[in-house]
Amino acid sequence: MSKWLEQEKSNYKKNHQKSLAAWKKANELFPAGVSHNIRDFHMTPLGLGPPFISKGRDARVIDIDGNSYIDYWLTHGAAILGHAHETIMKAIAKQLHFSNHFGMVNEQALTLASKIRDATPSIEKLRFCTTGTEATMYASRLARAFTKKKKIAKIRAGWHGGNDTLFYYVKHVEKGMESSGLKTQVEADIVSFDYNDIDGFRNILKENKNEIAAVVMEPVLGAGGAIPPRDGFLEIVREETDRNDIILIYDEIITGFRLSFNSGQGYFGITPDMTTMGKIVGGGTPIGVIGGRDDILEQANLQKDGKVWIGGGTFSGNPVSMVAGIATIDALEKNKTEFYESLNNNGEKITIELQELLDKYEAPAIATNVGSMICIHWFREKISDIRTGTEVKLNLDNDKVNKFQLLMFNRNVLIRSGFGYLSVKHTKDDFEKTINALEDSIKIITKNS
Ligand SMILES: Cc1ncc(COP(=O)(O)O)c(C=O)c1O
Repeated sequence: MSKWLEQEKSNYKKNHQKSLAAWKKANELFPAGVSHNIRDFHMTPLGLGPPFISKGRDARVIDIDGNSYIDYWLTHGAAILGHAHETIMKAIAKQLHFSNHFGMVNEQALTLASKIRDATPSIEKLRFCTTGTEATMYASRLARAFTKKKKIAKIRAGWHGGNDTLFYYVKHVEKGMESSGLKTQVEADIVSFDYNDIDGFRNILKENKNEIAAVVMEPVLGAGGAIPPRDGFLEIVREETDRNDIILIYDEIITGFRLSFNSGQGYFGITPDMTTMGKIVGGGTPIGVIGGRDDILEQANLQKDGKVWIGGGTFSGNPVSMVAGIATIDALEKNKTEFYESLNNNGEKITIELQELLDKYEAPAIATNVGSMICIHWFREKISDIRTGTEVKLNLDNDKVNKFQLLMFNRNVLIRSGFGYLSVKHTKDDFEKTINALEDSIKIITKNS
């Protein structure tokens, strides 16, 4: 093992003794030590474990050993207002005083639903569930029933949760099979195309004539690497789905209320037929939203001629998630112009600085962003541009990603898989410290690769 890596690992071990002891126990309790596969934060391949976090406030989290991190992971992107935001905490505390859930309809759900509907161009009706994974699965089911067609088209490297409907072509962008125990992609009626590949998309339409019920996509390839849309890609997908009676489902579980108050669809000016949301609209508590055109959603009305069963979650629409979501949307709305301008401008600025650093050290990496979603893609060799998730997945250098993660942990910056998300609580001082940590880490990775 190289000397620098030995030193970094030894520093990490010295500063994370409690976390490493907890990690040992975690591996006795959970397969791979985790309940969500990505939560080892690239530490397993290095023979280490992730920090166990015990506290968070604003843009910082603190682990059980007392290390404090500037947080760009932000609860999988959900904590746009930072951690422990005062009005969200107050709203939750007030609700808990009256109990957390009754399994009954409640007025709080009406308030949150109205706020989401008012802000989101495509949403005429909606239903709440408890995760984004459920939301994308139910949205696909509604689209299949509505169009009476079977196939779902998705973007390669797009992550829509681990449900049996859409967990294909995520990491395994060529073969498509992500897990044993799933139907094959052919049996599951899933077809795929590349983000930003208009010809590829048209080919899929041609090859599957009149069989595609829905295109499920994020407006920005989010978890797939913050890759922006190019060359009228979003516009053409909208036109072609319209022309071919295909339901366009925007998965806005990351981009919802992040790119703008009117989500990705407002930011890009394109209205899909259906929208799924999660993360931010739950104010840091479990939530999923299935929304869209009235005629599509009304299929779920079993009192009328509805025929599509969606939902069924014990904790769907629970008042704690509802009030946390209301407090979040209210806080965002109150400062709408200022918040979104600064989130998006800071995202641009950091990405430019990042790319300058990568160029300065001739790092085999590219920084991409859309607004406050940012990613550094580490490759085996230098690549001049990336447009698709397939290019990212096939060229990614996992070893560099893992080591970069360790270097950033040791410099008290919490990122994941490259970088992450901004909150309204990150300060100029946070950004300066982050850029210093990035420069140091980029220099070390590039020098030693
Ligand atoms: C774009 C997208 N869709 C769906 C999901 C799944 O949401 P959840 O983790 O709430 O099930 C995620 C989660 O990261 C996501 O990023």
